[in-house]
Amino acid sequence: MMNETFLPHQDQAQSDSSIWHAFGPTLAKPLTIRFAQGVMITDEDGRSYLDAMAGLWCVNVGYGQERIAKKAYEQMVQLPYYPLSSSHEPAQALAAKINEWLTHPYQIFFSNSGSEANEIAFKIARQYHALNNESTRYKIISRYRAYHGATLGALSATGQHQRKFLYEPLAPGFLHVHPPDTYRDARGMSMEEYGLFCAENLEKTIVYEGEKTVAAFIMEPIITGGGILIPPDNYLERIAEVCQRHGVLLIIDEVICGFGRTGRRFGYQHTDVIPDIVTMAKGLTSGYAPLSATAVRKEIYEVFLDDEGPRDRLRHVNTFGGHPVSCAVALENLTIMEELDLVHRSEELGIYLLEKANSLYAYPFVGDIRVKGLLMGIELVKNRLTKEPLALDDVQAVLNEAKAQGILLGKNGDTVAGLNNVIVFSPPLIITKEQIDTILEVLHHIFQRAHVG
Ligand SMILES: Cc1ncc(COP(=O)(O)O)c(C=O)c1O
Repeated sequence: MMNETFLPHQDQAQSDSSIWHAFGPTLAKPLTIRFAQGVMITDEDGRSYLDAMAGLWCVNVGYGQERIAKKAYEQMVQLPYYPLSSSHEPAQALAAKINEWLTHPYQIFFSNSGSEANEIAFKIARQYHALNNESTRYKIISRYRAYHGATLGALSATGQHQRKFLYEPLAPGFLHVHPPDTYRDARGMSMEEYGLFCAENLEKTIVYEGEKTVAAFIMEPIITGGGILIPPDNYLERIAEVCQRHGVLLIIDEVICGFGRTGRRFGYQHTDVIPDIVTMAKGLTSGYAPLSATAVRKEIYEVFLDDEGPRDRLRHVNTFGGHPVSCAVALENLTIMEELDLVHRSEELGIYLLEKANSLYAYPFVGDIRVKGLLMGIELVKNRLTKEPLALDDVQAVLNEAKAQGILLGKNGDTVAGLNNVIVFSPPLIITKEQIDTILEVLHHIFQRAHVG
């Protein structure tokens, strides 16, 4: 535990009763975090926790990277703000760096959050089709169980009814297909057959809807917040073929999967697919400053141009998108990721994690363990044969106990009825093998004592 004398001085914490917290109000008193270093966070009472969720799945380089703070300071002194209706060097340099990571030329539109990055993707997709004389294409298809953001358009694309309840009706023109759920839905098919089956499901939906009405399909490479649903290896490639066959743009939401989380720079890079649009946020700055980006394939951008120059404009602006300080922060963050080889580290530690985590199958209520890079979901069930999901209270009890033992884990809460039963692990990519071992030991300890069902 962190020695309290190392904590920066701070006046007596103010009562936070004036904050409306995310997912609040609740009766639970939120942790007040005062200090963080590496993978550890420390609260106002000096109690430390291993943050196995990297904040909200985002602090990929870990806490306390002073180099990032210095770059932010220097940028604030040199140019604290200018909008991207003009240009500035940090945004130019970052767009070039993102393209290096994407390994294919894209045009980058910057904004502030993952939700906004997806909103912009939807607008670009619709306008692109209109400019191609296909203005009938307006529908956006996504998957049930996936989360794409909290704003009304991104929430419309979200396939989690509990996140939408009481906010509907949402935007028209959004519909959903079944997610690939290899644990619950494959029903005896081989992974190859099931990947094809899911892609055919999308294709049928496009045909039933009328392909000339469909603008885009949006998906995460792995459904993250909806329960770490890792698709069969052939799934994304088959989906890309379907989209191409029907003139539907493929938007890949890399808000969580991007920046090394799954053991590749971007999650889609486990395949040879080149997405039409890639959205990103979180790990882009490791959470050190707010920033997101919508990367659009050059060929799509060029439809907005003609021989004489601009043909039609994207009528979209945001005050803080591509903020120079956030761009400087992102650049330093990506430099650190490269220097520490964190993407490769994520892949290797993922292999280690999977091997070690398999020992948790010793407990009858561990139904399925899904790992890719430093992303893990443990699906808890009452009964392994029937796969009846463990009740939410029991899942929460595991998290509470882990917290009491100094480990902060997550769960796929508030998603779809009955399936909020997946414990989630998504730590900073600098986590060590020893820290992974500690987390697994704590889980063993909790599971050994659990009386479930
Ligand atoms: C896959 C995915 N897309 C989009 C978002 C929305 O990002 P933000 O919270 O930055 O708006 C999230 C947030 O968790 C996400 O997980």
